[in-house]
Amino acid sequence: MKLKACIKSIASYLPEKTLTNKDFESFLDTSDEWILKRTGIKQRYIASETENTSDLAYKAAIKAIQRAKIQTNDIDLIIVATLSPDYFTMPSTAVVVANKLGLKGVSAFDISAACSGFIYMLELARSMVESGAKKNVLIIGAEKISSVLDYTDRTTCVLFGDGAGACVVSASEGKGIIDIHTGSDGEFKDLLCTKRSNQTKQLEPIKLEMKGNEVFKVAVKTLSDDVSYLLDKNKLKTSDIDLFIPHQANLRIISYVQEKLGLSDEQCVVCVDKFGNTSAASIPIAINEAYEQGRLTNGKLMLLDAFGGGFTWGSALTYFDGIDYKNL
Ligand code: UT7
Repeated sequence: MKLKACIKSIASYLPEKTLTNKDFESFLDTSDEWILKRTGIKQRYIASETENTSDLAYKAAIKAIQRAKIQTNDIDLIIVATLSPDYFTMPSTAVVVANKLGLKGVSAFDISAACSGFIYMLELARSMVESGAKKNVLIIGAEKISSVLDYTDRTTCVLFGDGAGACVVSASEGKGIIDIHTGSDGEFKDLLCTKRSNQTKQLEPIKLEMKGNEVFKVAVKTLSDDVSYLLDKNKLKTSDIDLFIPHQANLRIISYVQEKLGLSDEQCVVCVDKFGNTSAASIPIAINEAYEQGRLTNGKLMLLDAFGGGFTWGSALTYFDGIDYKNL
């Protein structure tokens, strides 16, 4: 019998401290009104000095493993997607998380696909599971993005927040993952990047830079084109989708894509107001929001849609095969 890769659980972890739009007004030439109007963001979470990306990832991972009703040592592969790893460039954050979970000998590695990281990991996990190479893959999008932000640059620092989202993908008899599509175009590499070329000898602080308006224009088009492609390929209509869960970068981008695809508010998951842009963690955090609100239950069909630095992008059509939140 052909093995089917299924999403068995979802979980997230956010650090304790929040930074509101008003908080920025005390040290930056910005306003709550500008940030809310242009992005839809009201607040974001910021990790403490002593909390690393792996700590956020570990806390989300523990919950995802419990919710999948498996033991930690049932995990045979850990993948972490991040642009703010504990170490530049080794060891991988996945290896640090494996150590925190007490797993010796488990396969573990990181991927670099910016805000599209979760979709790329889902594609990898699916192939690993359906080929029979692995049974239970733990995928984690985790960011301490505050560590690569310049808090004097109002065009970037107000947009992003820290957090982690984790998911267990297992071989199972559920309805499973239907299809995933990923892509990239390196022509746009300088529009959104963390500058410190590893070719330079001198070590400067790493800092995220973005030409926001140019990114915005490509993002809206790519996000809507990619999901339309995936729906058409699978002969599905937007009305077949239970939940549309896009990357949470900007409410205006989400609204544009929602309108273009003709999706209702009930179908669309929006939480950018609470978390800001958490890059690779954004989609799993948003899935978890829908899950904990009781909107995502077993058998629901999700359409995931991501876009990020590179540029990279990806979309996924997948059922949720986990236990309903109220039955945990
Ligand atoms: O996660 C990966 C994908 N990322 C994205 O998709 C992000 C895409 N980009 C965006 O979300 C938006 O472009 C931003 C929210 C980053 C910016 O919004 P915008 O409507 O594109 O504004 P803009 O960059 O065209 O700037 C408009 C004005 C400028 O002033 P002038 O030149 O018109 O005088 C900026 O200097 O807004 C100014 N501005 C600010 N003002 C107050 C930029 N940032 C701020 C700020 N507070 N924080």
